Amino acid sequence: MTQDELKALVAREALQHVVPGEWVGVGTGSTVNHFIDALAGMKAQIAGAVSSSVASTQRLRAHGIAVREANEVERLPVYIDGADEIDGRGCMIKGGGAALTREKIVADLAARFVCIADASKRVDVLGRFPLPVEVIDLAVPQLQRRFAALGGRAMLRAGVVTDNGHPLLDVHGLQINDPLAMEVEVNQWPGVVTVGLFARHRASLCLLGTAQGVQTVRY
Ligand code: A5P
Repeated sequence: MTQDELKALVAREALQHVVPGEWVGVGTGSTVNHFIDALAGMKAQIAGAVSSSVASTQRLRAHGIAVREANEVERLPVYIDGADEIDGRGCMIKGGGAALTREKIVADLAARFVCIADASKRVDVLGRFPLPVEVIDLAVPQLQRRFAALGGRAMLRAGVVTDNGHPLLDVHGLQINDPLAMEVEVNQWPGVVTVGLFARHRASLCLLGTAQGVQTVRY
C-alpha cells in the first residue's frame, strides 16, 4: 500500500471513535483530509465538527458538515488528528501543516486524542522531523539563539504565516528525549505562541497504518 492509502485506511478506522450525537474535534493535514471525507458519510449521525484550521473548516463545510470554532464549545469527547512524529508514549511533533496552535486548543477541549498516522510517523525519539514553533516575529533572533543553545537550528519557514498571522520556526537537529520537559520549557520563552510538541496533550490512542493493516496502540 502507498503512504496515501495507509492514511486513508486509518482515517476510515477513526470513524469507530466518533461519538454519535456529539461534536467531534477535527485536526488538519493530509491524513485528516481523508478523515473528513469519510466523516461526510456519517454526518447525519453527529452534531458536527470543531475545526482546527481554515483549511479543515473549508473541507468540512464543502461536505455539508456543521462547523463550530473552539471558542463555541466547552468540551469534546474526542479529537482526531494526524502527527508528524509519534513516539512510544504517544508524545508527538505536530505543526508540519502550520496549524499547531489551533490544534492544541481543540485538543485541550477533548477527553481523548486519537492520532491517525501511517507507520512512517512512528519513531523512538522525537526530533528527526524539524520541530515547528509558532512565534511572534519580534522574538525570532532571540528564539533562534535559545534553540542554538540546545543544539538546534531554528529556520524561519519561508513564505508561511499561520491562520493566526504569525511566522513559524522549524527547529532542526534536536533529539527530544524528554518531550514534556522541553514543551514546558519552550512554552515559557517570551515570543513563543505554541511549540509543536504534544506531550501534555499526547495521544490516548494511535491508529497506525502498516502493511499488515491498522495497528491500534493505547497509551
Ligand atoms: C498540521 O499542522 C499538522 O500538525 C499535521 O497534523 C501533521 O503535519 C500531519 O500531517 P499529515 O497528515 O499531512 O502527514
